[in-house]
Amino acid sequence: MTHAKPRHLLAIADLTADGMLGLLDLAAAIKADPRHPRYSQSMTGKTLGMVFDKPSTRTRISFEVAMNQLGGSALLMDRQQSQLGRGETVADTARTLSRFLDGIMMRTFGHGIITELASHATIPVINGLTDLAHPCQALADLLTVREKFGRLRGVAMAYVGDGNNVAHSLMQAAARAGMDMRVATPKGYGPDPGQVRLAHEAARAEGGRLTLGHDPDTAARGAQALYTDVWTSMGQEAEQAERRHAFAGFQINAELMAQAAPDAVFMHCLPAHRGEEVSAEVMDGPRSVVFDQAENRLHAQKAVLFRLLGGDAR
Ligand code: CP
Ligand code: NVA
Repeated sequence: MTHAKPRHLLAIADLTADGMLGLLDLAAAIKADPRHPRYSQSMTGKTLGMVFDKPSTRTRISFEVAMNQLGGSALLMDRQQSQLGRGETVADTARTLSRFLDGIMMRTFGHGIITELASHATIPVINGLTDLAHPCQALADLLTVREKFGRLRGVAMAYVGDGNNVAHSLMQAAARAGMDMRVATPKGYGPDPGQVRLAHEAARAEGGRLTLGHDPDTAARGAQALYTDVWTSMGQEAEQAERRHAFAGFQINAELMAQAAPDAVFMHCLPAHRGEEVSAEVMDGPRSVVFDQAENRLHAQKAVLFRLLGGDAR
């Protein structure tokens, strides 16, 4: 049996600028009219498998709800209860799941695990977070920025904190959208150089800007969105004490917000640690749009599912 090569979403780099903006338009259209049969019946009879090697609240629930609202269903595969947990290879798992499912969403550690899964799957694979990338989060984040400011091109966003998976996807998405993206990290905790190169290429091609540095104040000055993420990501728990020390001074608090534009919003992918990367005052204050971001995971992922396994996918 031969199969056409499936389309995957493993990283923002899998999307052209037009493709990414088109997904945001589709997400907005679905959000505006979720019960339209074009969407609500788009996945009738289709099943998404979800594999989690790390904990999740938003990703797990929003994908499951998205599939249900699109007329399909989602099921959870627990690694420990599956043969993956007993050493069956990722490749054989991909080949097997491809015979049952219409798509796989995976959250795991090394990015190589998901690229391996995708290379052996004959159905679309969606990245629900790896150590390297979190593309679904970046799509929801840009949808949120566009809702708040009515546009993306030229909007200045400062990411302050760890140069991690969330930062990688966010800076690539922002660069593709022609935004003015500033990243401030402690020395030694900057984003991966390969990811920076890709983001610079996208910024050049799309008229965006990407500035990297180590000073939160410089990054925040005049920015319309201040974004942060946890200092210690899943899998880095052993480094927690060292990281707390290294990231002191990289908290988004009222003082840093005061450097930003008067209409600036505070963004965080969640979960948040009040008193570490963000003060409680900012997290719970009037400029915080973190739960709009969380909600937009649902709408953005519906667009991804619709494109990759929905009505117009085959
Ligand atoms: N932001 C995000 O991916 O949240 P979860 O870890 O809860 O899925
Ligand atoms: N950078 C965080 C994001 C959690 C959604 C982590 O990987 O743990």
